[in-house]
This record gives sequence, structure tokens and C-alpha cells, in this order.
Amino acid sequence: MMNRDWTPRSWRAMPVKHMPDDYPDPLALAHTESELSRLPPLVFADETRRLTAALAEVADGKAFLLQGGDCAESFKEFTSDNIRDTFRLILQMAVVLTFSGGRPVVKVGRIAGQFAKPRTSSLETVNGVTLPAYRGDIINGMEFNPAERMPDPKRLLKAYHQSSATLGLLRNFALGGYADLCNLHRWTLDFVAGSPEGDRYRKLADQIFESLSFLTALCVTPEQKKTLHQVDFFTSHEALLLNVEEAMTRREGPTGDWYDTSAHMLWIGERTRQLDGGHVEFMRGIQNPIGLKCGPTMEPDDLLRIIDALNPQNRPGRLTLIGRFGADKAADCLPRLMAATRRGGRAVVWSSDPMHGNTLKASNGYKTRPFDRILSEVKTFMEVASAEGVHPGGVHLEMTGQNVTECLGGAQAVTEDDLSSRYHTHCDPRLNANQALQLAFLLAEKLHTLRAPRARAA
Ligand code: TRP
Ligand code: MN
Repeated sequence: MMNRDWTPRSWRAMPVKHMPDDYPDPLALAHTESELSRLPPLVFADETRRLTAALAEVADGKAFLLQGGDCAESFKEFTSDNIRDTFRLILQMAVVLTFSGGRPVVKVGRIAGQFAKPRTSSLETVNGVTLPAYRGDIINGMEFNPAERMPDPKRLLKAYHQSSATLGLLRNFALGGYADLCNLHRWTLDFVAGSPEGDRYRKLADQIFESLSFLTALCVTPEQKKTLHQVDFFTSHEALLLNVEEAMTRREGPTGDWYDTSAHMLWIGERTRQLDGGHVEFMRGIQNPIGLKCGPTMEPDDLLRIIDALNPQNRPGRLTLIGRFGADKAADCLPRLMAATRRGGRAVVWSSDPMHGNTLKASNGYKTRPFDRILSEVKTFMEVASAEGVHPGGVHLEMTGQNVTECLGGAQAVTEDDLSSRYHTHCDPRLNANQALQLAFLLAEKLHTLRAPRARAA
């Protein structure tokens, strides 16, 4: 398969899983795809190359990847406050990680295009009525009635325009002053301010603030000043709807290379990573940095084969492996896979998604995730990486700046009874801001202890 010529549509000749095939009007869908292919790019090739370069630093053990955002974005929750709150939470976590980990943090949102969801079952039955399952706002609506659940191509355009507006906001937040390090006290959300994590953050922010005037004095060139006042912020989503990704894929004039301009980074989901499937075929031809979710069924040999299909030239920064095993399985699965990439000399980023392997149904029916299992999978990830001589390069989180009650536990102790009070997710349960900050502190401690012996040895 790998010798075949690649084009943005060559995936269409392969088996493809988890894409909707029940659009009532296929012609209308084709028209929309062609309309999308004429709309402006959402991100640009030079930005995308900057992310690859930053991820190459992560692969080399010199930086850390923080990737996070909603499980699924929705049309309803689309407000500038929501976007700002997720962005400021990522900034806070990045501050904690940069300071204690002693390495730069590459900031990537699951945002501005994270709409489509693979579903185990394509149908849903409620009280004896069966309808198509909800697949994310970019396909159909969440409400349980036949009209809403019908796939509608107009939703593809609505998602494009929402992503475009989201990117406009994010660019302004990242470059227009909001992310200036001098503002680091202002990023705390009101409901976090009085909590233990809020206090801990404030103390750290005080400490950093004290050295800021010193740093400002040192930074004299415009380039150096920019470092303090701005951040590089990148976008990512799961490349599930290959028709959309194809429409957004453009050839860059000067290099002749193909870039998917729907986001800087795209990943292949655990359910669509078949070596001979359409998703791997599409992703091998674009130049964007790509992620690959790795679950408990991934064997070392399979992993090496997929790596070689996606990154035959072994370019560092091109490929990020995102482990999602579950707290109970990580210690079994990870060592073999990490050993395989290290021994095989594959230049990859190893990241941990501690969310998707730790989902369960609470006794009252809510889909939830116990925070202690999430922490436990992250700890295992860091410890196995350290034992295997691999850089624990990053985390991939489902989180929100909103004060939701979707994951159980944390210092604020969300209980099963609390779940119903602020359960807003359109798909999987997300960490709230307190839980996310608590996780950042734990990660920072681990990164700090890993860094210490290295510094002494140098
Ligand atoms: N530009 C640097 C960075 O992104 C420093 C920085 C500026 C920063 N604002 C920030 C770091 C906000 C974390 C959070 O790392
Ligand atoms: Mn999810």
C-alpha cells in the first residue's frame, strides 16, 4: 500500500471506519465538500512547521507537550468566555509546568475543529425508539428526535465558521497581550481563587512575578520582548471526517508539500488506526505533525509498522504517540511499547492521555472518570518512561475552564451525587479547572524530580 501514490483523496479507495454514511442527500454533501475546499485555510503552513519544530524539541527531551480541551466542541457552548476560560487554564498549567519542570511547554488546544466523535454503536435506543447515534455537532444534533439526528451537510460549514472565529479569538489572546507573563495573576478563574490549587498557584505566581522585572531588564531585543509578552498557541483535533480534512488540504506553492489547513496538529483515533485503512492513508501524505492514539490492544510490532507508514523518514516532531490504556493496564502495556520505540530508534514524542482508558458509568447512570485513576495513569506513565529511558513528553487531556462536575474526586471532592449539578459535556467527562490545575502540580513535581539527577550529572 505504501508505494501507492498519495493524493488528498487516495483514502477513498480504502476501508474507512466511523464516518457517517447515511447523509440523506449525497449530492448536497458533495457540494458542501467542494465549497469547503474553496474556503480560506484556517491555519498556515509556516505555523504548522513551527509546531513540528517545537515537537522535535519534545522528542529530544528538551520540552513538554500540553494538549487539552473539550472532548467535543459544540455549537451551543460556543462563546468567547468559554474559549477564553479554556485558554487561560492552559496558560496557568503551562506556567506551573514551565516553572517546576524547567522546560518550555508546547501549548496545543483540542479546539477550533474538535467536533466529530467515533461511536461504538451507530444507533441509539431510548424507550423502544431507535435513532442514529449522536456523532458530534458537525454531523447531527444531540437531541433525541429524528430531525436532529439526521446528518446535515450544513453543519460542516457551521463548524468551519465556528472554528475560524475561535482561531481569531485564540490568535488575539496569544499575541494581543492577554498571555503576557505580567498578567499571570489574572488568569485564575473566580471559582478557583479560594481553593487549595488557587492558593498554590498564587504563591507560585508571586514568586515568578518577583523575577519578572529582572527578566524584563534582560530582554531588550524585540524578539526577546516577544517571549515575555506572547505565546505560541496551536490547534488540534481528531482527523475523523476525512472528507472535511481532504477539502481543507492544500498544496503549498513554494515547497509543493500538502498541508491539512484545518488545524496545526491532527491525530488518528484508537478506533481508526488500521494500517490498511483510510485514516492512516490520508495522514501519511500531509506534512502536519500527527498524533496516534495507542490503546491496550496495540502490540509493539504493529506500532513499529504504523510508525514507519506515517513517518518513514523518522523525522522528529512528526509523530506523537498518545497512550491511553487505563490506570490498571498502563503498567502492563507501556513498557513494551516504549522499549520498542527506543530500541528501534524511532524519534517520537511519547504523551499520555489518562482520560479515555478510565471512563466508567456511575451508579446513577452518568458517564464519569475518577480523578484518582487519572492521576494514577499519569504517574505510571512518568515512572515507566523514566525506567525505560524515554522522555515523558506530554499529556493529552479533556478539560474545560468551566466549573463543571463531570469527573469524580479531586481536592474539591466531586461525588456521584454532585455529577448531575453541572454536567455539561457533549461527550466524555472533562476535568474542571481545579482538577486540571491539581494535575498540573502533580506533573510538575514529577518532572522536577526527573530533572534533578540529570542536572547533577551534567
Ligand atoms: N513565550 C514563553 C512561552 O510561551 C513565555 C510565556 C509568555 C508564557 N506568556 C506565558 C509561558 C504564559 C506560559 C504561560 O513559554
Ligand atoms: Mn473523548
